[in-house]
Amino acid sequence: MSKRPSISFAKFAAVENGTAVLLLASEGKVAGEAESVVGQALLSRIIDVSDFKGKLAASLSTLAPAGTELDRLVLVGTGDPAELKADDWLKLGGSAFAKIGKAKHVSVVLALPEAEVSGENAADFALGILLRAYSFDKYKTKKGKSDDEGKEEKSSAKITILVADPHAAKKAFANAEAVAEGVNLARDLVNEPANILGPVEFAERIEELKKLDVKVEILDPKDMKKLGMGSLLGVAQGSVRPARLAIMEWQGGKGKEAPIAFVGKGVTFDSGGVSIKPAAGMEEMKGDMGGAAAVTGLLHTLATRKAKVNVVGIVGLVENMVDGNAQRPGDIVTSMSGQTIEVLNTDAEGRLVLADALYYCNERFQPKFMVNLATLTGAIMVALGVSRAGLFSNDDTLAAQLFDAGQATGEKLWRMPLGPDYDKLIDTKNADMKNIGTRFGGAIIAAQFLKRFVGDTAWAHLDIAGTAMGAPATEYSQSWASGFGVRLLDRLVHDNFEG
Ligand code: BES
Ligand code: MN
Ligand code: ZN
Repeated sequence: MSKRPSISFAKFAAVENGTAVLLLASEGKVAGEAESVVGQALLSRIIDVSDFKGKLAASLSTLAPAGTELDRLVLVGTGDPAELKADDWLKLGGSAFAKIGKAKHVSVVLALPEAEVSGENAADFALGILLRAYSFDKYKTKKGKSDDEGKEEKSSAKITILVADPHAAKKAFANAEAVAEGVNLARDLVNEPANILGPVEFAERIEELKKLDVKVEILDPKDMKKLGMGSLLGVAQGSVRPARLAIMEWQGGKGKEAPIAFVGKGVTFDSGGVSIKPAAGMEEMKGDMGGAAAVTGLLHTLATRKAKVNVVGIVGLVENMVDGNAQRPGDIVTSMSGQTIEVLNTDAEGRLVLADALYYCNERFQPKFMVNLATLTGAIMVALGVSRAGLFSNDDTLAAQLFDAGQATGEKLWRMPLGPDYDKLIDTKNADMKNIGTRFGGAIIAAQFLKRFVGDTAWAHLDIAGTAMGAPATEYSQSWASGFGVRLLDRLVHDNFEG
């Protein structure tokens, strides 16, 4: 992660120099605290000569505003303040941050006309800043020059957020900061190219979570062979880089209480294997570990904010390559569950990795539920586009909890069907199942495949192929890797499973 702004909270006070950020509601209304900074006359004039109408997350920057000692005045639109949702506060923060430019000292007057701004709102605004400030620039050797990501300057500004209850804001911000770290960690992992981040290196990054009192265990191919993980290992055998299975445990709940579990697809590069992918766009497959990155980022967040819950995170880390020893179409492998799989397409590898990871997780931990995340199918993008991830589940309660967390965080989901009609499409003459079905309904067929490895445990599969990477930039994400899943699942845990 790049240079990071520092954020603090304080009570309302006069803002006389530096950069001032004010919220402006629809029809140009501002709170009294904001009006006292520059006066209604100047605000009206700015509104008159611009098209700025206070639309949600729209913004406007005025340099050296007349009659003040300010360097810069930034107005951020809120739309109708009564309509603001949690996710909108992130947009406001991101939007504001984008406009502060080179400013070193920034004061944000976080007040709205005819509406309260809670500590939670202020923390979400700050989270929006921290997420917007992220950029993956470690391989830019000429910092501060032309930047492909946009014209924004990197900022290490000191930002003071003036708010009615700074104490409450500070408290909520401790959690928000933990969330920002988790999201930005997931982004870093996904953005990292595959020559630098293979299964071994990914596992090493996971070991760093030990500093946060997360228990970490790493299995190597010998361990996995002993466990009978023929499905995962079949994918890995075409790469000179050995596979890893990482197990993370955070014990923040009662000693004996069964954990909740998150499982991630961690294909550090997906060439397709012998069923090789077309050259165009193949570079994007460095991000085929977005599920594993989200699980890692989530564990980082939960441990940092000392979540009161027992959590297990498991990620299957492999590289899917073409090689003399690579798996062939038609090969039959035996999974840890004992079920055999005819591999008809080596590019449908994510499900092969997850089959063993899910089964292992269920057997060893008997969790309350398992949620797996995977950049699993191109088909989910055909179905849902890139603004919602696919949600598949055998449990209506869990599905509803996930859906709600999605609406609240803006990491939105849409439930997709499962059923015997789809399940039978992966039956085959030669083994218990095959790893592909028919051309249509590809995302559902992949989900049916996973379902065969979770037993009766409550389970949900999130197909994040469209949302984890390459999704369009937003007010608070300018990164190719979005970090999708961390905020969603932190919210799921916070709202349903802590005490
Ligand atoms: N990793 C891909 C899915 C993917 C595609 C993720 C585009 C992100 C962007 C996955 O391993 C894959 O190759 N799936 C195949 C399955 C097919 C062979 C049944 C696909 O979606 O084409
Ligand atoms: Mn693939
Ligand atoms: Zn893949």
